[in-house]
Amino acid sequence: MKTTTWNSPHDLPETVRLQIVPLLNRQLADAIDLTLQAKQAHWNVKGPQFVSLHGLFDEVAETLGELADELAERSVELGGVADGTLQAVAGATRLPAYDRELLSGTDHLRALAAATGNFAQSSRGAIDAAATLGDASTADLFTSVSRAADKLLWKLSAHAATPA
Ligand SMILES: [Fe+2]
Repeated sequence: MKTTTWNSPHDLPETVRLQIVPLLNRQLADAIDLTLQAKQAHWNVKGPQFVSLHGLFDEVAETLGELADELAERSVELGGVADGTLQAVAGATRLPAYDRELLSGTDHLRALAAATGNFAQSSRGAIDAAATLGDASTADLFTSVSRAADKLLWKLSAHAATPA
């Protein structure tokens, strides 16, 4: 399926770009889904840790939103379309649906940590896929995304940490 839509002057072969754009859009869908999940937690969390968690969840949403922007723009740089509509994201995300009934900080932390870990893992897979295709720059983007996701996962899981 042809996915480039404009005559991008990018020098990577189109055969490579045609495979990188869907890879970017898959990660974009998860990033946008995770952004919205973090906002859901930001808005709905209750309990004694409200102030700190309300802020932490907004930081997660803000960071993921910035990463989504980078992923989307890379698709267009390569001649493709960034698939960031609600409908496209709903159809493409690989994250489990966020439970709308969650209330406590512990439950929101657990749910968001699981989704963030999932996203970090798929980002690492995307690094290898982009590198195999010969696109070191996209591999580098996925590397920075995975590093940021790892940091968010640490912040989310440190709240509920117990001694190993
Ligand atoms: Fe807010």
